Amino acid sequence: MNNKIIEGFIVFEGIDGSGTTTQMNRLAERLKRLNIPVRCDSEPTGSVAGRRLRTLLKTGNAEDPLFNTTMSSLFSLDRALHVYGENGIISTATGGVKLLCDRYFWSTAAYQGVNGDVDEILELNNAFPLPEYLFFLDVDPKEAVKRIDRRNAAKEIYETAAFLEKVRTLYRAALKRYEDSGMKIFTADTSQPADETEAFIASCLDFLPKCR
Ligand code: TYD
Repeated sequence: MNNKIIEGFIVFEGIDGSGTTTQMNRLAERLKRLNIPVRCDSEPTGSVAGRRLRTLLKTGNAEDPLFNTTMSSLFSLDRALHVYGENGIISTATGGVKLLCDRYFWSTAAYQGVNGDVDEILELNNAFPLPEYLFFLDVDPKEAVKRIDRRNAAKEIYETAAFLEKVRTLYRAALKRYEDSGMKIFTADTSQPADETEAFIASCLDFLPKCR
């Protein structure tokens, strides 16, 4: 694998309830305090494909193979627009802005991989450039579902402990394949307090001052 690595592109992955959005936002605030230009994105994005995906995440049947294949394709299409589009990942990160992203193609491998073929999904996403940093936020799925329940929002189709258990296993397997890719990959245990995870993430970033 020799995908291009985009400097300044930082991805957060993890099961629902693992804290990817919280930690991405915390890092963004930290960078802003240091006057480092930063932008936060998430997948699915606000594109036509992304908006359709948001609806399907509420109404679809995760077990249906045709639905699952459709989701993989739509997520990849949404991603292509996100990577290569105007003001997309490439143009933003190469312009010197730290581009933080809540989820990228490992989400497709892990979530759609539960009822699909991980190899095929990774093949479909094979051309996408890689982030400089990849943070995998890891938490027990039962704890994750408790957190999701506390949010009080309508649940999405993947948000059950049994499903997220499988997603977690697939994440670990998919990330292992990228160990020699040149990305800086870190796993953070997010059962610990958010402050500690935040400090850990900051300590992994070479471009930040080490004494805080
Ligand atoms: P999430 O990022 O947790 O955002 P929110 O809290 O606003 O719902 O939800 C996105 C959901 O989409 C999550 O369940 C994971 C799923 N997903 C996939 O299944 N495949 C993908 O490729 C991506 C990017 C997300």
